[in-house]
Amino acid sequence: SYVLYHDQIIKNGSIPVDPEDRGYLFGDGIYEVVFVYDSKPFAFDEHFDRFVQSANKLELALPYDIPTFKHLTDELIKKNNVQNGMVYIQMTRGVAPRNHLYERNMQSVVTGYAKSVTLESIAQSHANGIQTYLTEDIRWLRCDIKSLNLLGNVMAKRKAADYDCQEAIQHREGMVTEGSSSNVFIVKNGTLQTHPASNLILNGITRQIVLQVAKELQIPILEEAFLIDDLLGADEVFITSTTMEVTPVVKLKGQQEQSYKIGPVTSELQKHFKAKIQ
Ligand code: PDD
Repeated sequence: SYVLYHDQIIKNGSIPVDPEDRGYLFGDGIYEVVFVYDSKPFAFDEHFDRFVQSANKLELALPYDIPTFKHLTDELIKKNNVQNGMVYIQMTRGVAPRNHLYERNMQSVVTGYAKSVTLESIAQSHANGIQTYLTEDIRWLRCDIKSLNLLGNVMAKRKAADYDCQEAIQHREGMVTEGSSSNVFIVKNGTLQTHPASNLILNGITRQIVLQVAKELQIPILEEAFLIDDLLGADEVFITSTTMEVTPVVKLKGQQEQSYKIGPVTSELQKHFKAKIQ
């Protein structure tokens, strides 16, 4: 396969790994995951708007402009012959002797790869829904930054998997925030509700597109935090992410348990989201 290193597409296996890269030492870096449909990156501009925002929030310097990122992403897709799949692009602050203090405007290190995925497993989750596990959100207070620091997220995901669940639903003192790698929506009496885009969640690109679709369909929207009780009492629950699109939740496990049916609002949003992809 071919991978991205700085501004070069090179054969995998030939990227030098520097142990003093701050990405390794401190998780000091950011990333984006972009889906590829029909050999084209989906919502590239939105993802790279967020990439720039994450970089700015951490005072990370971009080594080149966004059109160059776009060009390199297209090259990665082409070189690896990806029809349907994903592109992962990461940028660390770069290499320096280990010191918590960072210098501004270091030479960032960009790496990336593209992988094909089979759409069958996603289709399965879309058709049958997934099980989720309710767990405490133990992450830091800048979840709006798509940083490489994902320990809270991976611990939540592991816990969910231990209970035979595909995703975790996290809460802060009873307030539902988001999944371990997705945003969470509920539907109650026809109204769509999700946590507002604050420092407590990653403002998902899929989340934003789904809210736009809901607006177009004139579905009432509430961007307000909701409680575990609201989650338990919801008519429908679904999650959104680049890799899961709109995926229905049919079961909540954890301190309290609940079952859900795949409802009409979820199905409608799922259908219209898919239409955006074509
Ligand atoms: N995760 N919240 C978190 C914590 C996430 O990690 C993600 C995405 C989302 C959804 O964002 P988007 O719709 O832009 O993909 C929400 C990616 C897919 C990942 O880390 O693999």
